[in-house]
Amino acid sequence: MFVQQPIAILDSGVGGLTVVKEVMRQLPREKIIYFGDTARTPYGPRSSEEVVKFTREIVDYLIQFRPKMMVIACNTATAAALDDIRSRIVIPVVGVINPGARAAIGRTVTGCVGVIGTEGTIKSGAYEQALCELSPHVQVISEACPKFVPLVEKGNFRSAETYETVRLSIGHLRSHPIDTLILGCTHYPFLIETISEVMGQGVNLISSADETAREISTILHDKRKLARGDQEPIHQFFCSGQPLLFKSIAQQWLGEQIELTPVVWQVP
Ligand code: SIN
Repeated sequence: MFVQQPIAILDSGVGGLTVVKEVMRQLPREKIIYFGDTARTPYGPRSSEEVVKFTREIVDYLIQFRPKMMVIACNTATAAALDDIRSRIVIPVVGVINPGARAAIGRTVTGCVGVIGTEGTIKSGAYEQALCELSPHVQVISEACPKFVPLVEKGNFRSAETYETVRLSIGHLRSHPIDTLILGCTHYPFLIETISEVMGQGVNLISSADETAREISTILHDKRKLARGDQEPIHQFFCSGQPLLFKSIAQQWLGEQIELTPVVWQVP
């Protein structure tokens, strides 16, 4: 019997589900296996050595399912570990930073692009580098927002507390001529309504999920690895922390029931 190889997607927690949703929409035949490292989230404040170590561990876990592609759906892990993982495995490995940068350059008119992300992502300078490679004269204004991921992991997407946190973290960005803001963390699309309220209507908000799913599609097409057949794929989800909260956030976000397997992970 012909067995479909899955696409493996990983994140520090629930953020990568924003990429999962887009992959499900653009590539409905593809089977997905997802790992959210909810026991060790957030990755943002951790050292890049630690993030590389965690990413390697998850990749080693996911590889047992013989995926045809690995997607690092976490900006912090992409910034720290993309090259390392690419050098360790033979299947294509996709991150989320270049796709987000490409989408932003395609949208900006003023040439002034904002980037918000975790401390790890912003400190790495990975977005500035990706944006400047695409468009050398782009002006980039970056801001780390360490309080956003914990709100999302608690399922606190829309509340007075969320609004205040977002306003205090990024309200000042409005004093710059930014017309495009990259949500440089896959968790942030969960807060998109609040971020949009704070930034105002004139600012395009870019989530890399869209463009990442397109990149996955292009690679699979070029390698003649797109899923065939009419069978509905059965996706599998794994998380290392509290399964009930993960399941409830995932089902709410994806709008469908999921099969979740908690993984007992050694949490340092
Ligand atoms: C985090 O775990 O701190 C954020 C994940 C991301 O950068 O997308």
